[in-house]
Amino acid sequence: MMSGKTIVITGASDGIGAAAAKILKEKGHDVIIVGRNPEKTEKVAASLSAPFHTVDYADLQSVVRLAKELSAYPKIDVLANNAGGAGNKRTITVDGFERTFQINVLGGFLLTRLLADKLCDSGATVIQTSSIASNLYGAGLDVNDLQNEKSYSPFTAYGRAKLCDILFTRGLDKRYRSKGINAVAFEPGVVRTNFAAESTPFVRFCYRSPIKHLFTISPERSAARLVRLAEGEAGKDFLAGEVYSGRKPMKLKFRDENGEAADILWNSCVEMTDKYV
Ligand SMILES: NC(=O)c1ccc[n+]([C@@H]2O[C@H](COP(=O)([O-])OP(=O)(O)OC[C@H]3O[C@@H](n4cnc5c(N)ncnc54)[C@H](OP(=O)(O)O)[C@@H]3O)[C@@H](O)[C@H]2O)c1
Repeated sequence: MMSGKTIVITGASDGIGAAAAKILKEKGHDVIIVGRNPEKTEKVAASLSAPFHTVDYADLQSVVRLAKELSAYPKIDVLANNAGGAGNKRTITVDGFERTFQINVLGGFLLTRLLADKLCDSGATVIQTSSIASNLYGAGLDVNDLQNEKSYSPFTAYGRAKLCDILFTRGLDKRYRSKGINAVAFEPGVVRTNFAAESTPFVRFCYRSPIKHLFTISPERSAARLVRLAEGEAGKDFLAGEVYSGRKPMKLKFRDENGEAADILWNSCVEMTDKYV
């Protein structure tokens, strides 16, 4: 195997991120664990003898702190923006943004923005964990209503945010491929994790009921998708700017042939995060 990579995984205190961290560590990479809950994060990191950091994407100042901490590493070969989840009602964060959008899109956007120089210097792969919900509930995205003011449901807010993760990947590819960053997104399947903990009662029930085994895959199986991209080479193992479902690019219902929506999303995220940079 080639020498180990330095791999930062957010949302690594549980679920897909924790499973991916374990696999990557076992394969000889230097994994850096990022989680929200300090106890859970420390426990996962200790089990892997890996360093850890905490962040709450619902508070962008904590992303600024995290970026400062991560800047101390000599290089970052892979940044997996994996933290995220679904909510159950429209709430506004301390930063003034709709929470589902902030947690799934803006937090990772700001972290990537703050680390951009290091990621370019390292020739990094930046991975977004998206979702099939981007097609199931997100296709009606209005990029001029990213705060879901005109219409909100927990499902559409989540699906649209996960679609924004894909548009963010396209935007990152467009602006940073020539500077050394390989951006790629993937959908992890429907996975038996804690994902539904903050979602609606029905979704919580589905993810916790005995029938979950009928429609979900294990975190380890899902994590293999993230691992493939983290270890892979752009142009050989995946195409930069793409979103993958398994090994194949995922077809999007949302059409943005000329990249206009991706540009609006990018510019809006820049504007929303300007004061934290
Ligand atoms: N499970 C699925 O079926 C599924 C399907 C499609 C996409 N996804 C996506 O996969 C990713 C990982 O989810 P998972 O299924 O592994 O769920 P999970 O087991 O609940 O793990 C979510 C991770 O994200 C972290 N996180 C949640 N809210 C956060 C916040 N406000 N700030 C910082 N970190 C936060 C959690 O930290 P703590 O545990 O420390 O609080 C945890 O480490 C998410 O982006 C999710 O949207 C999941």
